[in-house]
Amino acid sequence: MAIKKPIVTLTVNPAVDKSTTVERLVPDNKLRCEKPQFEAGGGGINVAKAIHRLGGEPIAVFTSGGPTGQRLQKLVKAEQVNIRVVETKEWTRENLNIVETTTGLQYRFGMPGTELMPTEIEAIIDTLEEIDPTPSFIIASGSLPPGVPTDFYRQIANLAKRQGAKFIADTSGESLRLASQAGVYLLKPNVTELKELIGADRLEMDELDEAARALIIRDNCEIVVISMGAMGAMLVTSDYVEHIPAPPVSKKSTVGAGDSMVAGMVWTLSQGKSIREAVRMGVACGTAATMNPGSELFHMPDVNRLLDWLNRYEVRYASSIR
Ligand SMILES: Nc1ncnc2c1ncn2[C@@H]1O[C@H](COP(=O)(O)OP(=O)(O)OP(=O)(O)O)[C@@H](O)[C@H]1O
Ligand SMILES: [Mg+2]
Repeated sequence: MAIKKPIVTLTVNPAVDKSTTVERLVPDNKLRCEKPQFEAGGGGINVAKAIHRLGGEPIAVFTSGGPTGQRLQKLVKAEQVNIRVVETKEWTRENLNIVETTTGLQYRFGMPGTELMPTEIEAIIDTLEEIDPTPSFIIASGSLPPGVPTDFYRQIANLAKRQGAKFIADTSGESLRLASQAGVYLLKPNVTELKELIGADRLEMDELDEAARALIIRDNCEIVVISMGAMGAMLVTSDYVEHIPAPPVSKKSTVGAGDSMVAGMVWTLSQGKSIREAVRMGVACGTAATMNPGSELFHMPDVNRLLDWLNRYEVRYASSIR
């Protein structure tokens, strides 16, 4: 029997997210905070956590340095995610989230990313190349830290091609544009990222599908899934367009919605299902993640209920207008 090819996520700018509460945020005074909670943060790590929750066994490749890096590794392992660590000289950064209890407002302080040395960047490439069997999917998610060249995700896109892996890039700005130019399997831009990708000043809602189609042709990408927050998602390929609405839910926090969506799509594709089914699962996971506070990802009962809603929506409402 052939050994199953793994799903691999890559996080080059991870963080330990430290969360606490304070009665009121005021200047000058010493503020008494509750005992902090720690969580592993970073796009690829979140995607790996979410894929594990869906039933997969992903491998999370990430950088880690110093005592904060040790804590990060412990936190990811506690989620039962397989890890491949690239050690860095600089310590892993720690971000700070504070909830003000009197108002319920959340303040999120992001620290600069941990700078990587050229040898450490090479070690990331080596680590990916050493994974055996070679990956089925490589998902690069999150920003690039200082020291990493802007075309880094393009290098990963080319590595994925050499390995016959399907590459998914979820980032923004120039690094996303350069990755896209290498021709990726799946892009999941939100509307702002799509606008940057095609270099437009403005992008109206009724122009999204055309913009994605132009991108597919220009960069030779296979699938573009535009995520549209509360409006759901638009699936665009060279010969297909479909809008999938987001089920109506009461939203608590949208943090982690994008990563949950990517996880839902990749997991479903890895099960041999169609891209239409994958996008529905992506929307179900993304929207389910918004039902939980803070950076908490989705709960499976919510995902199943929302997926059911989407399938019923299709039968009841959408099929009659096709
Ligand atoms: N307010 C919302 N209500 C319902 N669903 C939502 C909402 N916001 C996000 N989602 C769900 O999550 C998916 C991804 O969200 P979004 O489009 O905000 O991605 P993103 O901008 O990449 O997010 P992130 O900030 O996590 O990177 C959406 O397609 C949708 O299914
Ligand atoms: Mg995003």
